Amino acid sequence: MKNLDQYIREIPDFPKKGISYKDITPVLQNPQAMRLAVKLFLEKLGGQKIDKVVGIESRGFFFAALLAQKLDAGLVPIRKSGKLPYTTLKEVYELEYGKDVLEIHEDAIMEGENVLIHDDVLATGGTAAAACNLVRKLGGNIVQCNFLLELKFLNGRARIGSYDTVSLVTK
Ligand code: PRP
Ligand code: MG
Repeated sequence: MKNLDQYIREIPDFPKKGISYKDITPVLQNPQAMRLAVKLFLEKLGGQKIDKVVGIESRGFFFAALLAQKLDAGLVPIRKSGKLPYTTLKEVYELEYGKDVLEIHEDAIMEGENVLIHDDVLATGGTAAAACNLVRKLGGNIVQCNFLLELKFLNGRARIGSYDTVSLVTK
């Protein structure tokens, strides 16, 4: 079987000119590639106890759900503005052009729970840093942030700070 990085497809000039979109759907379409990614994520976690896996809308949801089941943990969605129905905490984050808001349900994580935060891609780190802030505000203990792909040249891990940050593929 191919390496995981061979299942991540680059689409030039999507969604707009100058942006090289990192498409993870070839991983999702291939059960062996998905199994390999889950196995590698679990290895990098090294048996640490996790109570909640946080998946970031939308592309973070796929593996967050799989990992939550494997870890016997709850799944918590962090969603974009206005999507969560119950009372939320909100965090503003920077986009390439402008700002947006991420939200989490206020009862999604209990004080002291061990949390794994997952997203598909770590780029500038703005999204992941906002997710970390939301989990921290609820009193969650962030054990690790993991990503399928990290774009090293954008140095997103600097914005995540001291939390253990793992990526399976780097470009
Ligand atoms: C993409 C990607 C990450 C985020 C990374 O999501 O899935 O969540 O950008 O970028 P950053 O590190 O610079 O913050 P996007 O906001 O495009 O939404 P989607 O997952 O719903 O497609
Ligand atoms: Mg995303």
